[in-house]
Amino acid sequence: MGFFKLLSSPQYERLPTNALHPKSRFTLNKSLLMYGMYGVLGISTYTAIVLWCSHFFTKKPYSYLDNFEHINNIPLVRDERHWSSSSSAVFSSLYSDSFALAVAVLGHSIRRANVSASMILPYIETQVSSKALCIAQSVGWKTHPVGLIAPPRDGEDMATPRFRDQYTKLNIWKLGEELGFNSAVYMDADTLVLRNFDELFHFPWEFGAGLDVFPTKDARGFSINFNAGVLVFRPSQSTFEDMKSKLETSNFPLAHAEQSFLNAYFGGKSVRLPFAYNANMVIKQRSRELWAELTKETRILHYTLVKPFWHNKMPEEMILTPEELQALAETTETRDGGLYREEIRLWSNAFDRMMEDQGDAINACY
Ligand SMILES: *[C@@H]1O[C@H](CO)[C@@H](O)[C@H](O)[C@H]1NC(C)=O
Repeated sequence: MGFFKLLSSPQYERLPTNALHPKSRFTLNKSLLMYGMYGVLGISTYTAIVLWCSHFFTKKPYSYLDNFEHINNIPLVRDERHWSSSSSAVFSSLYSDSFALAVAVLGHSIRRANVSASMILPYIETQVSSKALCIAQSVGWKTHPVGLIAPPRDGEDMATPRFRDQYTKLNIWKLGEELGFNSAVYMDADTLVLRNFDELFHFPWEFGAGLDVFPTKDARGFSINFNAGVLVFRPSQSTFEDMKSKLETSNFPLAHAEQSFLNAYFGGKSVRLPFAYNANMVIKQRSRELWAELTKETRILHYTLVKPFWHNKMPEEMILTPEELQALAETTETRDGGLYREEIRLWSNAFDRMMEDQGDAINACY
């Protein structure tokens, strides 16, 4: 009877908060309690010693928040009342020919996901050929030349020379306002769109990005700093000028280029995007469970650890033929014991679909 009563009227049952409470359903043997306390004391002392040692012997990851510098006066939320009309854009960037086909596949994936926004591609005029521009334009990118923004302090301390072009990304704030956009999403050329993300254009805040994740052997793990591969931002000439004026003078680690600067600038004000908007392949290496969960909803996949279209010995001015590219993607599938095979195949399939739809236009660029 009691069982049926319980079913028909579920009772609110308090969670046990204190095992020694007189009304507790559990009774504790006193000597057991003593041994338990000695045990806890021993474990705590041991833990304290280990923590004390590790405090002195391990290098803490840099924290933008512990090193906070007041350099950003931009309000958290944009006052939308003054907007003439809402117009949205997706930005990427092209700094060398070797990423031309990647940015084309990205553009095609944006259109296939029915993302409604304009597609704007800033490129560094002196480093990108007309052939590369032609390929990008074939899938709908509107290309705009921008000047290179030199790294602060002449590029000292940069992790790789490849990062020297990365500060040029900041131009999206300026170009975005010049072209009349109110809300925008930026994606690195090594990303692929799997699902529509139009909701990002209704983002009320100034800035958002997904958190960064480091490979398994890196103690930083899941970081609270953001990854700059996907950004939601408000185009603004004045934000651009403000950031640029602070590049040389603010004190941030220079190794990771614009990503570090953006963390220093927006770190205290950025809104965290779910991982589905910047599904960094490092997550797959750290947690197959989280990755499996993500794949059901991923909007933007980020090819950080392996790039099906690029390898680090590829000259910057090289544009592979479609056949060479397919061969490279197939080789990449076997990397890390085939861990990323599925993701590489998603990219190869997106490439095939692009060639089906726009192959004639793309082949005419060669
Ligand atoms: C995009 O729109 C077309 C035409 O309305 C539709 O057939 C297609 O299923 C849509 N694709 C996605 C991914 O929503």
